[in-house]
Amino acid sequence: MGFFNRTKKEKKAPAGRVEGFYKVTGSGKYAAEYKLDNTCYAVLVGSTVAAGTVVSIQLDEAREVEGVLDILTHENRPAIPAFADEEKRKKSGFSLPVLHTDKIFFRGQPIALVIAETLEDATYAASLVTATYKAAPASVDFDTVHPAITPAATGKERGSLDAWSKAPFIREQVYTIRHQVHNPMEMHATIAVWDGPDKIRLFDKNQGVNNVQQTVSRLWGIPAANIEVMSEYVGGGFGSGLKVWPNVPLAIMAARKVNRPVKLMLTRPQMFTLVGYRPQSWQRVKIGADANGRFTGIWHQAKHGTSVYDNYSEGITRISRLIYNFANLKTDAATVPLNLGAPTWMRGPGDCTGDFALESAIDELCHDLGKDPLQVRMDNLAGTHDPDNGKPWSTNFLGECMQKGAEKIGWNSRQLKPAQVKDGEWMIGYGMANGMWFAGRSRASASIIMQKDGSILVQTAMTDIGTGTGTGIRNIAHDKLGIPHDRIKVKLGHSSLPAAPSQGGSTGLSTISGAVAAVSEALKIKLAGYAASLDVVYKDAVAADVLLSDTGISYRETGSHPVAFAAIWEKEKLDTLEVLASSAPGEERQKYSFCSGAAHFCRVKVNMKTGKVKVDRHVCVVDAGHVVNELAAANQVSGAAVGGIGMALSEGQATDNTHGVFIGSDLAGYHFAVNADAPLIEVEFINKPDLNSNPSGAKGVGEVGIIGAAAAIANAIYNATGKRLRDLPITPDKVLLG
Ligand code: MOS
Repeated sequence: MGFFNRTKKEKKAPAGRVEGFYKVTGSGKYAAEYKLDNTCYAVLVGSTVAAGTVVSIQLDEAREVEGVLDILTHENRPAIPAFADEEKRKKSGFSLPVLHTDKIFFRGQPIALVIAETLEDATYAASLVTATYKAAPASVDFDTVHPAITPAATGKERGSLDAWSKAPFIREQVYTIRHQVHNPMEMHATIAVWDGPDKIRLFDKNQGVNNVQQTVSRLWGIPAANIEVMSEYVGGGFGSGLKVWPNVPLAIMAARKVNRPVKLMLTRPQMFTLVGYRPQSWQRVKIGADANGRFTGIWHQAKHGTSVYDNYSEGITRISRLIYNFANLKTDAATVPLNLGAPTWMRGPGDCTGDFALESAIDELCHDLGKDPLQVRMDNLAGTHDPDNGKPWSTNFLGECMQKGAEKIGWNSRQLKPAQVKDGEWMIGYGMANGMWFAGRSRASASIIMQKDGSILVQTAMTDIGTGTGTGIRNIAHDKLGIPHDRIKVKLGHSSLPAAPSQGGSTGLSTISGAVAAVSEALKIKLAGYAASLDVVYKDAVAADVLLSDTGISYRETGSHPVAFAAIWEKEKLDTLEVLASSAPGEERQKYSFCSGAAHFCRVKVNMKTGKVKVDRHVCVVDAGHVVNELAAANQVSGAAVGGIGMALSEGQATDNTHGVFIGSDLAGYHFAVNADAPLIEVEFINKPDLNSNPSGAKGVGEVGIIGAAAAIANAIYNATGKRLRDLPITPDKVLLG
């Protein structure tokens, strides 16, 4: 397997991305690109009603199509053992009883799977499958369902709502955001192979091979060791790959039925219904301040959509408990069941949604106060402690982010009064907003195999969805060991490698850096142990005493007490050397609170004739601890900020509420921000290490790039035009009518 092996050509740029060459040339394979002998193809058929039951499925016509091998339905599929036992099903973490029920929970729910010799045969035959249903009333319209649902308290109330009911300045407004989808470039796909009666091999697109392995193990009651999951290269995720979706069990059922490898890739329209989304939301924020601009209190209520078969819930109001000091605070939330596929985590889940309301409301309050929203935020920041749990922040440089960003964008040239600056048809304005995200870390393992030539291979099961995890691993190994970049290879995304959690929540690098640091130390100790028989100085050496180069080891200073690797190989009669280590967060997680922060600033131009908004400049200053790989980290932030532009201005999946069906479920109908919609995102890092967070000092960098971006844009639109728009996306019609 190729993985990330370097070729001679790449040696010129050792600091480049480890996977770059393979992704750019197409030689790195995504899940659906593996070619296995005897593979057949599966295409799924989705229900055409949004609620009710399947009465009958007509398969005769489809079965006539040449090349069709079989068609699975809830009446003939091989059983998934855990679905026979509700407790086991729940434990599996997989919620949709796919092809194990005649009930329909949402439109597009798989009701049949056509398996054929070719993709074309399967696709054609799938188009001939029809079903009759006993349809039931479906509710897919969040706006009409949510008013009947009252949010309940989500955390400890601070002070009381009454305490600030007479604050001199109070704002209370409702903010809404439409349903948004991930749609990474690589579509979700699975190739399933049964290698024996209780052995499954999967090539699958996901953000965590061990999670897929565990889920499948629990669904089929097969030991995890018998389930192999490979995701060497992943073409994006944004959270959709953190869960196992129906394509995985469907491909496994199909492979069992026909006893051949089965490939199932979702179509682009199916990506809109089967792999989660950021749910539509409603928020009401009441916020108060005294005449000096000191916040007196906040009441943040939120509701978001969920499915009728799986109650997904995200913490929309959490952000209001963290960034600023509110002496009085109440947060309430609820979910709203709808006949849609289940939502899931999507880029900055919860906080991204909540931040739009919080940071818009603060901007509104500042306008009432007649004060600079930058200064008011600065004055109200939670300084040294996390206001929610009272623990000291390990590090929190959000204030510095704000200062730097303000300088960079030229905040001084912003007019306090809105709608002052005109350039022909265009109005120009500035806006800003803060974002914050927990800087988490969990347990992970990694191994290093050293070859005779002194090159090493660092291995872990963690995936790299394009975030630069592999490159970060190589850079950290280089830092810890001293071995040149071009002698370090990285192998990822395989369930048989040392265990690692899914790559999500901006915790990947923080988590794996601990394991890479630990395994690097283990390698040094192992080599020192061998070297001790050649030079006694190494006898009680600790890792910090040992330096490595491309040819051998030395003691404390480069070149002192040199022992060549070759001498060790010869003495020990070794061909390769392997070390394994794990690392997990410790008690520092009890002592401190951890966060990454970002300050977003933008300048927008709003065309008053067409309603078009152009983000003219976007500055994002991020506190993400030590930046391990500046290029990849900056790419993370600018990609996230472009996502924020889409969220603010164009993204929103519409439903036909009569038929319970999504409208425009393709990349032409759903409007992501593209390069033409975004300026060059100006990214800067504070770059101060947080060594409580993990040995690399890095904190999470992915999500803070989007948390705050949409509010900064909405606030800038207000500053440009005097129009306060509280419903995302802010499309031209809203600008013109607002
Ligand atoms: Mo992200 S929602 O942690 O992939």
